[in-house]
Amino acid sequence: MAIVGIVPAAGSGERLGTDGPKAFAACAGRPLLEWSLDVLETVCDRVVVAVPAGYEHGADRVRGAASRSASVREALRAAPEATVAVVHDAARPLVSRVLVQRCLDMLAAGGCDAAVAASPMSDTVKEAGNDGTVVRTLPRAGLWSVQTPQVFDAAALHRALGVDDAVLAAATDDSSLVEAAGGVVRLVEAPPENLKVTNTVDLALAEALLGDRELRAAPRG
Ligand code: C5P
Repeated sequence: MAIVGIVPAAGSGERLGTDGPKAFAACAGRPLLEWSLDVLETVCDRVVVAVPAGYEHGADRVRGAASRSASVREALRAAPEATVAVVHDAARPLVSRVLVQRCLDMLAAGGCDAAVAASPMSDTVKEAGNDGTVVRTLPRAGLWSVQTPQVFDAAALHRALGVDDAVLAAATDDSSLVEAAGGVVRLVEAPPENLKVTNTVDLALAEALLGDRELRAAPRG
């Protein structure tokens, strides 16, 4: 069995307002991407990163593509030996080894093609038109907000990604593509700190939580 980490890190990150791509923006003293790599490298046999053009230095760096899932497809193509793929966004630096392992265990238990991190919705979710008029309110029970890591049977992910670029561009995560291909996806409840860095408030929060985590991990002296 070959467990390969796949990290889409090729986004521009315009909403964060940094000069360069988001994955390379400084977060608690190092590039955002490196926090996730630290964790994935302890669990995976190899980690392939999809990076923006001009950042393909070093082994296991491939050029990303026009959409997030197309970047995942490029990285997966570079790891034909993968039997299990651990897809994780560079934008979630607070991922833990425990969470990745729980997703791996869920997949290994059988009966599904993907095991994905998720949190039960705490907000009420409404559907609205372009002018902000509410169309309906969704019953909250049974609604989850889905995150990464997402752990896949690599063959199932490969099949799911074999669709038109327009379908990949419309997908907001990879597990929905597996569902669309008839696969079974299971949820693994994630801890609240597994946040996604999208804007400057998220970045400040991530830095505070990572600083706290480092402090707790440091030997007392
Ligand atoms: O833009 P968003 O935050 O949803 O992106 C999620 C992840 O997908 C980020 O880590 C980003 O770098 C990556 N991405 C990518 N290729 C793209 C767009 C986003 O690898 N074309």
